[in-house]
Amino acid sequence: MKVPKRLQPLVDDGMIDEVMAQLMSGKEAQVYVVRCGDSLRCAKVFKEARQRSFKQAVQYQEGRKMRNSRRARAMSKKTRYGQKEQEQAWLSAEVDALYRLAAAGVRVPEPYGFVDGVLLMELVADEEGYAAPRLDDVTLTAEQARDYHGQVMADVVRMLCAGLVHGDLSEFNVLVDRHGPVIIDLPQAVDAAGNNNAAMMLQRDVDNMRNYFGRFAPELLTTDYGREIWALYEAGDLHPETTLTGVFEHEAKSVDVADLMAVIDDVREEQAERMAPAWEE
Ligand SMILES: Nc1ncnc2c1ncn2[C@@H]1O[C@H](COP(=O)(O)OP(=O)(O)OP(=O)(O)O)[C@@H](O)[C@H]1O
Ligand SMILES: [Mg+2]
Repeated sequence: MKVPKRLQPLVDDGMIDEVMAQLMSGKEAQVYVVRCGDSLRCAKVFKEARQRSFKQAVQYQEGRKMRNSRRARAMSKKTRYGQKEQEQAWLSAEVDALYRLAAAGVRVPEPYGFVDGVLLMELVADEEGYAAPRLDDVTLTAEQARDYHGQVMADVVRMLCAGLVHGDLSEFNVLVDRHGPVIIDLPQAVDAAGNNNAAMMLQRDVDNMRNYFGRFAPELLTTDYGREIWALYEAGDLHPETTLTGVFEHEAKSVDVADLMAVIDDVREEQAERMAPAWEE
């Protein structure tokens, strides 16, 4: 096909030899199948800032570490430099996440670099070499659903151990190849430790997966992996090999009433002392 304008620089640089086809165009990007030498790859061209919705960007970016404080300060301002920096940080977030997650053993497309706003990555393919279907496109047996659900939960745990929450995990952002599920679409991945919305987003990601796989294996619908995973993470007990149960034990700590009364008495006494007029001392 004719080379799209945004891919031309990569063709000129010899990083792409041929643009084969355009895949679905999403909210944030256009995705192409390209040939690089003998192998087919995937090129994700991010839309320019003004073509995208930044509605949720603030919520997602909280806690993202800036490489230097000059940049962080610039970004917080509405200067042109600030906006450009913010745009760059948003764009490189996906490739950063891909490298980090691939290294942590999460099944994501292998990244091959990020040039001129274009992310080059492995083409997740089906048996014939075409772009693999999304979870939303396939019908599963109950056994497959349980198996894939388990694999995705293991990946969610590995991601969290690597410090990230996907933030937009759904049947539209998981592809299926012959080995199973592959997680894609990570520009909004959030920093698990630094973002106040991380727990909520993890819960939502896990619930989306439960509800999707639960269509084929209804017994999954009663599981509560989200709270189990987050509780282990917060306690510092989450590891890539952690075995999950899908059950969240509500902590029912018994309260020692005598202890509690003693604490209340202490607080009362302190308060009384503070309130007492100075001449009483
Ligand atoms: N590495 C890949 N291999 C094969 N297909 C891919 C790959 N990456 C993306 N796709 C295809 O392109 C589509 C859009 O990709 P992606 O979800 O990353 O972009 P997006 O613009 O953020 O999409 P949306 O806004 O719809 O979530 C995917 O649904 C998938 O079908
Ligand atoms: Mg998507």
